[in-house]
Amino acid sequence: MFNIGVIGTGYVGLVTAACLADLGNKVICVDNDYKKIENLKKNIIPIYEPGLAELLKKNRLAKRISFGHSIKEATTKSEIIFICVGTPANADGGADLSAVEKVAFEIAQAIKGYKVIVGKSTVPALTGERIKQAIEIKTQGRVNFDVVSNPEFLREGQAIHDTMHPDRIVIGVESKHAEDIMCRLYKPLKSQIVVTNIQTAEIIKHACNSFLSTKISFINAIAHICEKLGADVEMVAQAMGLDKRIAKDFLNAGIGFGGYCFPKDLDAFIHLAEKHGYNFELLKSVRKINEEQKRFFIKKIEETLWNIKNKNIGVLGLSFKPNTDDIRNSIAMEIIRTLKSAGAKIKAYDPQAMAKAKAEIRGIQFCKDSYAAAKNSDCLLIMTEWAEFKKLDLAKIKKLLAQPVIIDGRNMFEPAAMKKLGFVYKCVGRC
Ligand code: UGA
Repeated sequence: MFNIGVIGTGYVGLVTAACLADLGNKVICVDNDYKKIENLKKNIIPIYEPGLAELLKKNRLAKRISFGHSIKEATTKSEIIFICVGTPANADGGADLSAVEKVAFEIAQAIKGYKVIVGKSTVPALTGERIKQAIEIKTQGRVNFDVVSNPEFLREGQAIHDTMHPDRIVIGVESKHAEDIMCRLYKPLKSQIVVTNIQTAEIIKHACNSFLSTKISFINAIAHICEKLGADVEMVAQAMGLDKRIAKDFLNAGIGFGGYCFPKDLDAFIHLAEKHGYNFELLKSVRKINEEQKRFFIKKIEETLWNIKNKNIGVLGLSFKPNTDDIRNSIAMEIIRTLKSAGAKIKAYDPQAMAKAKAEIRGIQFCKDSYAAAKNSDCLLIMTEWAEFKKLDLAKIKKLLAQPVIIDGRNMFEPAAMKKLGFVYKCVGRC
């Protein structure tokens, strides 16, 4: 068992800390957001992530997890220090690494004996090298430490499951000692561990996220052709997915990918490639298709409603995907903004994301449930595939709507069944 410091209490930091504590380690989490840490001490969690509050509480009561403000304390008390701070996008698409740099400097000021310093935030390749260099310069080579790249692959909404049952663990190391420590740390997870050098681990993360984004844009492009030719993208994806070389996941056509990771990571990888002399045309097309997907959806609304101005539009789903309250880079929010500026009156509902949406957007009505959003609306949009939308009483929805129009950006229902119920039902890549 190890003493572990986790710096940064966002999605990655909190989930990593909770899971490592649950495996029996002693974890101290720090953040420069004073209020957030004080709240965490009282078990007030800043994000909605299924199971996280319970896991934090359990491990806090067992005294395996604590919260503080001092990187110095976390460094002194720990053998392994995870850097989990944010890496937002710069205006040029590259990643802003100033928070990572600041943390590296603070660790350097506090470090005395040997430590393993692990990069867990999603960072451009060669960041591990920079962290090492920064600490070496600050400590003037007097301290023994290792830098490790250990990219995370967790998905919001199922982050605890993904951390506790990973498909693989990637560890980029430069020394056998650091490799042994990291392998011992992750041994209880009984997962395959891929050990590489630091740069390879960093590229693995870039490659995974951009490949998954490519899969989504690919199926969205296919959906477009399907609509034109009267084919069914769901059947195409299903049959493609049966081929083990392709695999079925991430072939759901929709309004495009959003969230804090994919759009930002795609930009960062394109930017990194460019910086090193490679024009990553494939990924630029992935990004372009994703942009177009929003416009196609808005066009579908215009084609159905004719004029957007003064139309009442009900919206189901605000988060960038189900089981999270995260609205960062949510396509739903972008589409709402476009419709609102075209003069639509929006009534929205989301099971978890309304508090965050209220803080971001004004001039729309937030509803207590899906039925209230449908009431007197000229059409109902489905933007996020929350499980509860699947269970809607569609006959009731039809009665409540001013006209029976549903435009579904997540392909939640069968077009034939919806037509039978009397809806004008439009979805993505299916007729
Ligand atoms: C993603 C990756 O899946 C994780 O492996 C990775 O660790 C994480 O980014 C990260 O780099 O931090 P996440 O952003 O939580 O995880 O969400 P995903 O489930 O990957 O969904 C991303 C977006 O793609 C969502 O907007 C979702 O609606 C969309 N999507 C996903 C589709 O449109 N179609 C699909 O078939 C799958």
